[in-house]
Amino acid sequence: MFKPGTLWNDTDGRPIQAHGGGVLFDRGTYYWFGENKDAPNVVGVDGAFLARVDVRGVSCYSSQDLLHWKNEGIVLPAVPDDPAHDLHPSRVAERPKVIYNARTKQYVLWLHIDSPDYTYARTGRAVSDTPTGPYRYVGSIAPAGADSRDMTVFQDTDGAAYLFFSSDWNKTTRIVRLTDDYLDTTGPVTEAFAGSSREAPAVWTHEGRYYFIGSGCTGWAANAAEYAVAPAPLGPWEVRGNPCVGPGTETTFGAQSTFVLPVAGRPGAFVFLADRWNADDLQASRYVWLPLEMDGEKVTVRWWDEWDLSAFDDGR
Ligand code: DGJ
Repeated sequence: MFKPGTLWNDTDGRPIQAHGGGVLFDRGTYYWFGENKDAPNVVGVDGAFLARVDVRGVSCYSSQDLLHWKNEGIVLPAVPDDPAHDLHPSRVAERPKVIYNARTKQYVLWLHIDSPDYTYARTGRAVSDTPTGPYRYVGSIAPAGADSRDMTVFQDTDGAAYLFFSSDWNKTTRIVRLTDDYLDTTGPVTEAFAGSSREAPAVWTHEGRYYFIGSGCTGWAANAAEYAVAPAPLGPWEVRGNPCVGPGTETTFGAQSTFVLPVAGRPGAFVFLADRWNADDLQASRYVWLPLEMDGEKVTVRWWDEWDLSAFDDGR
């Protein structure tokens, strides 16, 4: 059973380290990519723990059933010997997402690259011939010339892919298409949710419509999620409110969105993936995975202490 918010071990019995992550389904296997935060919080000059850990890299886990995850290792490691490198441990590397490019036959990883004070605000890319890497880092960009912090990539059913990123110091969510090789951005830029400060974007499609869930901006503290609907990835986006129902609604059940996962072979079945951050000990942050219900254009996420994929069976 999924047990949201509890310790989740991999098949070696070690806590899964894949925070701010996303899942790729590829040739019958799920691959979960996320931030490896397997280190103590950094200690500041006054001896207090800071709300950060050094960058270790991007982890990958594989699974057939979404419950049992095999550790495939760190597939994009930190670069400790070059202080100027985007992936130096002293910096920020968050929210990795991987999509497969059928044209180039490459797995393309995008992630938020930043300085410790979050003023660098760029997006990095890395590529691999296999889902489990190793990924080759190809540098960072200011997408469409703008600042970029929390982000995700979304691949549409026609193969077009899009970058959604918090911009203008997070006030605006910008959306832009990726080039055919998925390594850069191209074309018009949508400015969505202007002034409403969304972070932690997750995007999916269902029955010809497009859906976005994001959080507010309160650092590592949880706040209410909000979702929106659009006729196309570039919008226009219409805000529909908080998808969470029941106790915990105002804090997304103590968590923050990171991804919405379509369950393979089950049209209309989606899993809402979120992080329950522990700012005082980030490596001990937990995962909150919950079934996401679609009813027409209405999105609902409700709490379950435990659940399995039979939650998507008819009549439940
Ligand atoms: C909220 C973001 O969603 C996280 O990915 C991380 O950047 C924290 N802020 C840092 O405070």
